[in-house]
Amino acid sequence: MTTDRNNVETGSATDSGDRVLVRSATHDDIAEITAIYAHSVATSAASFELVAPTVDEMTARFNKVLAARCAYLVAASHVGSIVGFAYTRPFHERPAFGWTVEDSIYLAPDAQGRGIGRRLLARLVAEAETAGFRQMIAVIAAGASPGSVALHRAMGFADAGLLTRVGFKLGRWHDIAYMQRPLGDAAADDAPIPPPGLQSGVKPGGGR
Ligand SMILES: CC(C)(COP(=O)(O)OP(=O)(O)OC[C@H]1O[C@@H](n2cnc3c(N)ncnc32)[C@H](O)[C@@H]1OP(=O)(O)O)[C@@H](O)C(=O)NCCC(=O)NCCS
Repeated sequence: MTTDRNNVETGSATDSGDRVLVRSATHDDIAEITAIYAHSVATSAASFELVAPTVDEMTARFNKVLAARCAYLVAASHVGSIVGFAYTRPFHERPAFGWTVEDSIYLAPDAQGRGIGRRLLARLVAEAETAGFRQMIAVIAAGASPGSVALHRAMGFADAGLLTRVGFKLGRWHDIAYMQRPLGDAAADDAPIPPPGLQSGVKPGGGR
């Protein structure tokens, strides 16, 4: 796979999700992103949201991701329509978590099972490492999304805990699985100051 000057990954001819481009998202993509997410919110417990957010809300979230120096990616078909999206965001707002991100990935039903999730997640990992983040966390409704558990395991995430019956959606209780992947210099004892997700001048520490 190669990355061109416009920050676009081109799939090889052997990709099962061939002719799908993975690139950074723009504001123009948000209506299609919102539609993909709305389908998932309405039909599964992959997200614990009960009401799909509006385009305006998804735009606000997109802006927040970029402000935190995280990545927001889309997978675009050969005719340019968006078939999936993925992003990282701070795992927790408290400053000492500033080196840790959480990832999210959603594909349109037709786009699933073609290797596109793997490409999106690989790019999220690469961008998070370049930015200096040290850990990536996936928070997965494991029973509702076995494909997400399989994808994260295939991409080097380890099981990091299970919360049982913590969400009620579509008529039943759901567990949440945590999975974790070290990034870059994760084994180092020191950490870059300020954390990659914080503006300079904001110091980690303070309250819990
Ligand atoms: C979960 C999701 C992101 C996975 O992306 P994908 O493109 O379908 O997955 P890929 O085709 O890249 O597969 C990646 C790996 O996971 C495995 N996998 C994917 N879906 C699977 C499933 N349902 N059951 C078992 N394994 C699965 C693949 O075999 C592959 O492993 P391999 O590379 O070792 O062969 C996608 O299916 C999706 O958007 N689902 C609906 C929304 C959702 O659940 N999002 C996750 C929220 S936490």
